[in-house]
Amino acid sequence: MIVEERKNITANGTLVRGSLLSYQLDTYGFYGRTESENICLEVYEEGIVRVRISKKEKFENFHYALDNNISQKSIDFLEKEDSIIISTGKVEVSIMKAPFRIVFRNEKGEIINEDDASFGTSWIGEQVTTYKKLQPNEKFIGLGEKTGPLNKKGRGYQNWNTDHFGYGKETDPLYCSIPFYIGIHSGMSYGIYLNNSYKSHFNFGASNNRFSSFSADAGDMDYFFIHHDSVNEIIGAYSRITGKMSLPPKWSLGYQQCRYSYYPEAEVLNTAQTFRDKEIPADVIVLDIHYMEKYKIFTWDKERFPCPETMIEKLKALGFKVVVMCDPGIKVEEGYHAYEDGINKDVFIKYPDGSNYEGEVWPGWCHFPDFTKPETRDWWTNQLKSYSDIGIEGFWNDMNEIATWGQSLPELIEFDFDGDKGSTRSARNIYGLMMAKSTWEGARKNLKGKRPFNLTRAGFAGIQKYAAVWTGDNVASDEHMLLGMRMLNSMGLSGIPFAGFDAGGFIGNASENLFARWISMAAFTPFFRGHSNVNTKSSEPWTHGEHTEEISRNYISLRYRLMPYVYSMFFEASESGTPVNRSLAIDYTHDENIYNEAYENEFLFGDSILVTPVSSEKEIEKIYFPAGEWYDLFTDTKYMGNKETLVECPVEKLPVFAKSSSIIPVQSQVYSLQEKPADQLEIHLYKGKEPCSFVYYEDDGDSYAFESGEFYKRTITYQPKGNQLDFSKSQGTFKSCFTEVKLYFHGFETIELKSVEIEQEDYHFISPLSNFDPIDNSRREDYKITNLPHTTFKLKNEEFSINWK
Ligand code: NOJ
Repeated sequence: MIVEERKNITANGTLVRGSLLSYQLDTYGFYGRTESENICLEVYEEGIVRVRISKKEKFENFHYALDNNISQKSIDFLEKEDSIIISTGKVEVSIMKAPFRIVFRNEKGEIINEDDASFGTSWIGEQVTTYKKLQPNEKFIGLGEKTGPLNKKGRGYQNWNTDHFGYGKETDPLYCSIPFYIGIHSGMSYGIYLNNSYKSHFNFGASNNRFSSFSADAGDMDYFFIHHDSVNEIIGAYSRITGKMSLPPKWSLGYQQCRYSYYPEAEVLNTAQTFRDKEIPADVIVLDIHYMEKYKIFTWDKERFPCPETMIEKLKALGFKVVVMCDPGIKVEEGYHAYEDGINKDVFIKYPDGSNYEGEVWPGWCHFPDFTKPETRDWWTNQLKSYSDIGIEGFWNDMNEIATWGQSLPELIEFDFDGDKGSTRSARNIYGLMMAKSTWEGARKNLKGKRPFNLTRAGFAGIQKYAAVWTGDNVASDEHMLLGMRMLNSMGLSGIPFAGFDAGGFIGNASENLFARWISMAAFTPFFRGHSNVNTKSSEPWTHGEHTEEISRNYISLRYRLMPYVYSMFFEASESGTPVNRSLAIDYTHDENIYNEAYENEFLFGDSILVTPVSSEKEIEKIYFPAGEWYDLFTDTKYMGNKETLVECPVEKLPVFAKSSSIIPVQSQVYSLQEKPADQLEIHLYKGKEPCSFVYYEDDGDSYAFESGEFYKRTITYQPKGNQLDFSKSQGTFKSCFTEVKLYFHGFETIELKSVEIEQEDYHFISPLSNFDPIDNSRREDYKITNLPHTTFKLKNEEFSINWK
């Protein structure tokens, strides 16, 4: 069909998009042309629409961030005089013909998101920008590892992976680029993911009151528009587009101790032994660059580490795994095997004249692997084998922005892009992603069925499939600790469930209280690691005085006791993309208070635990309880929601609360996650008015057997009406490591019931109990429960029943 064209070139040469000249529709999408652009709209799921606009004949095929499993869905359309309407079931897309612009509406016909009437998608030279009309009181959240507030309205950001040592409260850009954000207004929310790896720019009404916009310096406009009823479903859809986190090995969810750097071997062993002597749980010792000979990856400093294999064996005997630093720079040095093999296999990035690029980093002048080339990825897998051969299962990808001294990777360098060829301009933002992917795939191959742990500093959308991400070189200050919390929550909103920061602060020396507070908070973050810079004071949990040691032990211990809950949350994240750290914008999206500067750092750790970060100097703090009722995790004191309340927060006690109507499984104290906990699994039930359920998940923790059904999964459901707790039949072939269940009731009146014991399958039930105090166990009392399979008993005035299916 031909429609009349109306184009408009402004005085400064900006081509404001013209009208549709022609278009075609088929069951899979809309394909149109303006004078200078090709346009394509496709539907992937009922809530996902992909929009592509290109000046080229063929659309670019940037696919590194996309999950292989996404596929298109057929569409319904209606042609009108001035527009074409595509309905996806969840979204109605109006494609206006003259001028060409797009409006997204919900099922009720309300506008969720619309192009700016004049600018739509426009070009300035090669740079392409889509302008969206600002909606009333619109908020913007997400965009991954970004500084600034939770609501990014009024701000502009750039994506250009950058190594920024000691970044500030407002510094941008940083190491990792996730061009995905969520817009919220009028009781609705939507997500936009820009699938373009060139330097990109996001404007959320910065320096203007007319539009929000997203731009890429070159390439196609290629974005996915997502609409669902909740922020969590939008994150889920984004995770289906870019892929979900693979379930990490359980040991990597324990406490990881890092330092730049632990050496020689005796210091490494001594550090590990001290954790055991002091009964502070820990699972990992991380080796930073000093394990290498003159910082050359795939080598060991023979004086400091004469026999790494033996050291790894000794650490294993203490219940520790080892994670090693992996830098991409390969030193240019005759006789260095990785260099010589890399030259032979032609694996490095190049200048356009075919010579290998050289940049300077820790080992001196280096070449850098081109991870966008299949041969390089194979070569990397082979190199990594030297680590897995001696029992290493954890890998830390650092300096992969690429960081080189001078910080200005020349833009003319060429990358293979699996044959499609590109330059630094489109490769810089995905270098970290492709390095992490290579390490991940290589380690999986080399570890033969064991799950690797993989950590990265740089990344791009989709990084969650391959690695956990940490926030780089932060500073030991209260401001940075709270900024870090916001960044981790923002990464959770942006599809990265496994994220963490350097607990204690990397640069500078934390005060005793700051270290204690930071460890307390970090115990409720997905990736839990203490790390500190070279030349800072020692910074292990015991080096800041006895009091800080005690607090650190308490919170690290609590993390270990909560492991059944934490592991189940990681399982959920791997299945659905729901983050482990949940900004309150996920569940309380339209509550204005949660965006208030005073409360914007608060988050839910998993489904049920509210964490309210407070600075280390505060002894008392005003916090905001969102809707519902909340129980102090340590005392059971109940607080009402939708309310600001002053709570005490001495350094020993981070304000942490359990949600009413929630279920939290807890295990006995272990000191390494490789240790088997006691037979009894505790189920803590918090009274509330709403029904709730918890999917309890268990497997062997370190293999992929779960993919073929070797897991143990049970849904536990609480029905407040009728006081009922149901345990569904278990699924999977894995045998739970627990043989008894002990029930704890919180917020119920004192339990009168005496003895009921349930024996079913491999679990026994014993004891409902009133108080849960993870720090002080002394206030516990046990009751026995009998009778099968349905038990009713009385809590002072109420009947309670348990069904075991
Ligand atoms: C930079 C990383 O961000 C830091 O964590 C590490 O300790 C140093 N590189 C040395 O490897």
